[in-house]
Amino acid sequence: MARQADIYARLAEADIDPDLSWSERDLPERERTKHVHRLHPYLGKFVPQLVEVFLHRHWDEGSVILDPFAGSGTTLVECSTFGCRSVGTDLSAFNALLCRVKTAVYNPFVAEKDLRAALSEFTANGLRAQLVLDETPTITLAPSGEVSDWLVEWFDERTLSELLVFRAIAEKHPESTDLLNIVLSRSARSARLVTHFDLDFPKKPQTGPYHCRKHSRTCQPTREAYKFLQRYTLDTIKRVKEYERLRKPVDVTVHHGDSRVIEYGVEFNGLITSPPYPGRIDYHEQHRYAFELLGLSDLRTDEIGAAEKGTSKAAVHTYVEDMKEVFRNSRMHMRKGSVAVIVIDDQRGLYDEILSESGFTITERRKRHVNRRTGRRQGEFFEEIILARA
Ligand SMILES: C[S@@+](CC[C@H](N)C(=O)[O-])C[C@H]1O[C@@H](n2cnc3c(N)ncnc32)[C@H](O)[C@@H]1O
Repeated sequence: MARQADIYARLAEADIDPDLSWSERDLPERERTKHVHRLHPYLGKFVPQLVEVFLHRHWDEGSVILDPFAGSGTTLVECSTFGCRSVGTDLSAFNALLCRVKTAVYNPFVAEKDLRAALSEFTANGLRAQLVLDETPTITLAPSGEVSDWLVEWFDERTLSELLVFRAIAEKHPESTDLLNIVLSRSARSARLVTHFDLDFPKKPQTGPYHCRKHSRTCQPTREAYKFLQRYTLDTIKRVKEYERLRKPVDVTVHHGDSRVIEYGVEFNGLITSPPYPGRIDYHEQHRYAFELLGLSDLRTDEIGAAEKGTSKAAVHTYVEDMKEVFRNSRMHMRKGSVAVIVIDDQRGLYDEILSESGFTITERRKRHVNRRTGRRQGEFFEEIILARA
């Protein structure tokens, strides 16, 4: 694998925007995941600093920005700390929930009180005391009702009971239910029956001990959720407070819907987005645990470019047509001549056609080196930034 110094020496000669290619030292992980950006893992987000640079280059406070593929809400969060009003759409109910939770205006004292109360209720009901390893827990607080086969398959019995108890406690704090549900989902993700080295794309539940490639030893799948619930509750309180100190009093609107057809009723001064790309990621499936636990509606058949749809000629053709619809619809709501920033690794060269046929004029194409990708795209990786005018 190329060393970072070699990569950066080559960047200087290539068509790469140095202001957008940060080394680990320039932009350490804690900055890339600052405040609410790390409320919940999400595979496929762009770094907030990218949005920040473009907001400063092209817009002023008070502008209205659209992200038709809002994902985990990176654009929306950055707009709110910059001072722009923003509107985001995402087809995944979980992503829409995450965007809303990240960008909500909180009274940090209420949020802290509710989150700490939820944790205490969890411990106070005696559940923890009953949970002795190697004993089947007696759960009295789990709400009755259906628990899907998927949940039973992917969680240890004790873990699932703890998650269900926490879900019931979250309901008792109406002002903080959504925030608690994000803590619940983050904990569920960590507490699934999966190996430590395959959190992103586990194929089947790991029920017994295994040789762990990440820790070079024998590891056990987790049999509890509480330690995650506790850790993430406290972490969430800290992150929400930090964000509240930085965010400006601007509106953020989140739509759960399909960007091809959504009617915004607002004129935008610009667009910042990173679209899905054919065959890369299943955005619904990556948060399946949250859909199952929270009973969210699943619209995956309308997900553009989902990995499960593949990369056949027909799939790529459908992708191009779907994207034209999204960009046509977005442009109809944009002020004429306003700027669109589209971050994409356009390996198939699809975006000249997509953007020109949806009425945009491409003004610039820049590349940036993406540092330290995690998940399946490790190593050297470049991203393209397309600038276009509506
Ligand atoms: C690359 S991700 C966006 C990531 C985002 N920039 C971030 O930093 O979190 C693409 C998103 O497009 C969403 N998506 C896919 N098809 C969609 C559609 N038809 N309408 C709206 N959103 C869609 C996916 O759910 C996914 O969250």
